[in-house]
This record gives sequence, structure tokens and C-alpha cells, in this order.
Amino acid sequence: MKKAEIIKSWELVFPNDTNPRGTMFGGKVMAIMDKVAAIAAARFCGKSVVTASTEAIVFKKPIQQGDRIQTIGQVVWSGKTSMVVKVDVYAENPRSGEYAHCTTAHFNFVALDDEGRPAPVPPLLVETEEEKRHYEVAEFVKKQALERKKKIEESGI
Ligand SMILES: CC(C)(COP(=O)(O)OP(=O)(O)OC[C@H]1O[C@@H](n2cnc3c(N)ncnc32)[C@H](O)[C@@H]1OP(=O)(O)O)[C@@H](O)C(=O)NCCC(=O)NCCS
Repeated sequence: MKKAEIIKSWELVFPNDTNPRGTMFGGKVMAIMDKVAAIAAARFCGKSVVTASTEAIVFKKPIQQGDRIQTIGQVVWSGKTSMVVKVDVYAENPRSGEYAHCTTAHFNFVALDDEGRPAPVPPLLVETEEEKRHYEVAEFVKKQALERKKKIEESGI
């Protein structure tokens, strides 16, 4: 059993990170989230990892140019070779000091061996009530991801 480390990164939002409204471009936010999630997953399993799928990314609040953004990721569920990583993005306004939760998502990762085949990951140690809640949500998210994958594959599209 292994405890999951919390991975945190900071970035500054520059003009070329924004859309025509002057708020942060969603694709840029997603790329940062995916990187933080990849680091969380790889450090948890000690192997190289790939993103298998991304779950609903909810943009709760816009992020403004000039904001400092903190991205926090943690493995919240692990299976045989896969992991679910929860990632949250917070923006800090450097003038007012306001710190707000802006974006949230779950990412599915798979560990790979040297031949690029799915490889075992450690079972996740879940201790606190909060960890149990995250685990339950992630288990639901993972189940839905597989149902969605099956449906799309069966549909032939
Ligand atoms: C992700 C990938 C490794 C899965 O390979 P696969 O042969 O289909 O894997 P399997 O069906 O044997 O399943 C392996 C694990 O992946 C999980 N998985 C596979 N597809 C998934 C999906 N779409 N969403 C969530 N989990 C998925 C399975 O549930 C399984 O987990 P478990 O071992 O914990 O039970 C493969 O599809 C791949 O390499 N995709 C490209 C990844 C990529 O390029 N990412 C972007 C850049 S990092």
C-alpha cells in the first residue's frame, strides 16, 4: 500500500496564455493540469505513465491575465495498472490576494513497462475520511470512463 503524494506547481498567466477575452485559454489550463497529473501518477507508481482519458473538466471561474495559478494533483484511486488523478487549479490575484478555486478534473493514467505495455501500480493507501470520499468519487469516474469507452468502441464511430 502506498500513500499518494500531493504535487503542486505555480505558473504566472502571461498575455499569450489568454483568449480574446483576456482570460486564460482553456487548452492551456488543461495542458498544465495534464502535466501535474502525469507527475503525480509517475511518482506514485515509479514508472512511466500515459494519459488514457480525461474526465469532465469543469471551468468554474475564469482565470485572469496576471494571476498566479496553483495546480494541485494527487492520485486518488489506483487499480491494477491504472490510476485516477484529481487535479484542481486555483488562481491568486496578485493585487487583491484573492485566491479562488477555478478548475477541477479527474485524469485517467496507465503505467507502462519498458515495452509500452500496461504495468502494475501499487494499491493506494486510503486513510482519512477525505481520502475515502475522493476514492469513492474516483471509482465512480473510472467506472464511467470504461462504460463510455465500451459504448464508443461498440458503436464503431
Ligand atoms: C492507455 C493505453 C495504455 C491502454 O492500453 P490498453 O491495451 O487498451 O489497456 P487495457 O485494456 O489492457 O487496460 C489497462 C488499464 O488501462 C485502463 N484503461 C484503458 N483505457 C482507459 C480509458 N479510456 N479510461 C480509463 N482507463 C482506461 C483499464 O481500465 C486498465 O486498468 P486496470 O489495469 O487498472 O484495470 C493505450 O490505449 C494507449 O497507449 N493509449 C495512448 C496513450 C497516449 O498516447 N496518451 C497521450 C499522451 S501521454
